Amino acid sequence: MARARAMFVDAVHPNDWAKGHRSLLGWVQAAAPFSPEELFEIFAAGAAGPSVVFFNYEVSKNVFSRQEGAPTKPEHLPAASDGGFDGYSARVKATLNGARYCLRMTEPHVGSHEVYERLIRLVAPLEGILAAESRAVRTTVFVGDYEYTPFGVHVDPYPQIQCAISGERTALFWDDPYWADKSPEDRLAPWNHLAAAHELKMPAGDAVYWAPAYEHAFSSRGEHAIALTISFPEVPPPDSAVEVLRRKSAHHFLNVPPVRSAREHAKGQLFCGNPLFPITIAGDGKLVAAGRIFEISGIPELAAFVARVADSPFRYSDLDDTGRALVDVFYTHYAIDVV
Ligand SMILES: [Fe+2]
Repeated sequence: MARARAMFVDAVHPNDWAKGHRSLLGWVQAAAPFSPEELFEIFAAGAAGPSVVFFNYEVSKNVFSRQEGAPTKPEHLPAASDGGFDGYSARVKATLNGARYCLRMTEPHVGSHEVYERLIRLVAPLEGILAAESRAVRTTVFVGDYEYTPFGVHVDPYPQIQCAISGERTALFWDDPYWADKSPEDRLAPWNHLAAAHELKMPAGDAVYWAPAYEHAFSSRGEHAIALTISFPEVPPPDSAVEVLRRKSAHHFLNVPPVRSAREHAKGQLFCGNPLFPITIAGDGKLVAAGRIFEISGIPELAAFVARVADSPFRYSDLDDTGRALVDVFYTHYAIDVV
């Protein structure tokens, strides 16, 4: 993980956001942001909170349908009964008359706290830069047997990296002037413009970074290749001191996983605060943890509680009733965990 972090900063933001593109050889292997099995579970559980799932497929050779605002049809969504992406792909392909497909989910990290924590650790070195430039971290995952990016050659206004999780991918980049006199139809046929492209082959395990406003498309090979994109868009600056703290506590991911259920705790249960999600008193009767703002009365007791849980492991029975109620609140938000 440490090697993956160092490699990441070196390629993405050595001094400023790097220009052009940079290969991150073996980054995914070293960082393991998630496994295909974890990802399948996220899909099969259904899009959580702000996540949206899109499904595109060909309506004629190499022309992808445009879903636009329509919801994804239930039969195009992975289901637990598929057992994995092999089963999903076989079921869906049987209904598409041989057309290739692209299944896409925005913010997949919201579906798994483990995945979210892993991604946080990976992008943590950029925190200061993200805060200074008012940027957020967003994720998108792509699954499919499509040969080229369904929406063709395009630019995005923010830096990003794409990770090849499975299947071989090729990143294609072009210098701006090349597309100046080309039509929208040209952009939908990247295969006619390969001679002018900078090509970067990415076997599963590699990643690539590219700069904002850089013309790009991807091609892939293999059954249901899987790729994860991590992007860093600019967002409106925080409008209050509490919002600054909230974003910091979510490590600049705009969306965080939903809370987990409360559980019964034995009196002797040991707990520990999570250094990745510290509980911070923001003043004004407010408290920030794990990307959320809490309004809890009784700041003096709260201060004692925060000092207690941030320090070292503690026992449920060591706390008074107020403290135990707070353990329940912060356990459900992942700021405290059982040891
Ligand atoms: Fe893009």
